[in-house]
Parts: sequence; C-alpha cells; structure tokens
Amino acid sequence: METAFLPTTWNIDQVVEDLNEHGFALIDDAYPLSYVHELAQECTSNLNSFRDAAIQNGVVSKIRSDHILWIDEDLKIASQHIELLDQFSKILNQNFYLGIKQVEAHFACYNAGEFYALHRDNPQQKNDRVISAVYYLHEEWQDDWGGQLHLQDKNDLWHIIQPKPNRIAMFRSDLMHEVLAAKHQRLSITAWLRSNADLL
Ligand code: OGA
Ligand code: MN
Repeated sequence: METAFLPTTWNIDQVVEDLNEHGFALIDDAYPLSYVHELAQECTSNLNSFRDAAIQNGVVSKIRSDHILWIDEDLKIASQHIELLDQFSKILNQNFYLGIKQVEAHFACYNAGEFYALHRDNPQQKNDRVISAVYYLHEEWQDDWGGQLHLQDKNDLWHIIQPKPNRIAMFRSDLMHEVLAAKHQRLSITAWLRSNADLL
C-alpha cells in the first residue's frame, strides 16, 4: 500500500472503520504546524481573488454566502494537500471499491455572518463526488465562534463538528450537512474525491 507519504497522525484504520460505521471520520493534527502556517499564508495572500460562492453561471443562490478559490497547481502549498488526498483515495478504493480517480478542491472563506445552509454535495448521485474532505486551516478557533459543521451520519444521527484548526472532516458526499454562521473568519479547503476524472 502507498501509505509512505501520509503523515503519521493519519490513523488510516480508524478512518476506514469510522467511514464504514458512520459515513464520516475526523483526522486531527493532520499536518506539521510549519505546513499549516505556510498554507494559511498561501490562502490569506490570495483572499482578494476569492469569488462569491453563491454566484454560479450568473445565477445567485441564497443557500450560501462564503467565498471560494478553486485550487490549481499554481497554488503550490495547497497542491500538496490535494496530492495527499489523492494518495489516500487509493486506500479508500482498496477498502471500499469506490473507484475514486480524481480530487478537486477549493479554498473557502466564511467571514463573520457567512454560512452554508443544509445541502448534500452529491444529491441523488447527480455528480461523481464520492467523499468530501474539509480541512480547517485558520490558526485559531474557539467553541463559541460558530461555524460548526452540522452533519447527519449514515445512521441518521446528527453531529456538531467544530472547525478545529488542522482538522480534516471527511464524509460521504451524499450525506446532509450545513455550515452554521461563523462569527470570525473561517478558512478551509473543501475537497471532493471523485469517481470520474473527465467531468468538472
Ligand atoms: C462544502 C461544505 C463544510 C465545511 O464546502 O460543501 O459543506 O465544514 N463545507 O466547511
Ligand atoms: Mn457541502
């Protein structure tokens, strides 16, 4: 198995077990702090290029108010995270036969008051998103700052997940979830592990 490049803090067996039993898993202390720092730097230095996530093809949606920037190879630090998720997809494929072929991702910035209402990332198998993985990269977060991920697991139980710095929340893309309004600037990378490399 190609696990050599994954940080030792990623407890693969636990993640596989949690995804299997609950449809979601958390990885805490995902990266060395030096990396977190560089990534936060890359994110914040590009904030002026982020666009309104609510506007797609000229249509304005009311369900979200965050700002996003799609990640390509020019964003060198973020690309390292995408590369690891790509490695990790191979492990998921071996365990669950998911057929993941590609990872797509964007930075997201929720300023105070911004939210993302209840949704699924892959409603009715409409797209090829199999697993969603959200990495929180702000350097501080307190429990009363809002911005929690509210997620219904595969057994229909609801969970409140704090956007703890350096945490990855991974969940099946067909599960219902929302981002509660943040009270402070909340920075993340949302990535989707996809089963079809052609479709974007
Ligand atoms: C998304 C999403 C959850 C989070 O970007 O689709 O639901 O905690 N993000 O940021
Ligand atoms: Mn989502």
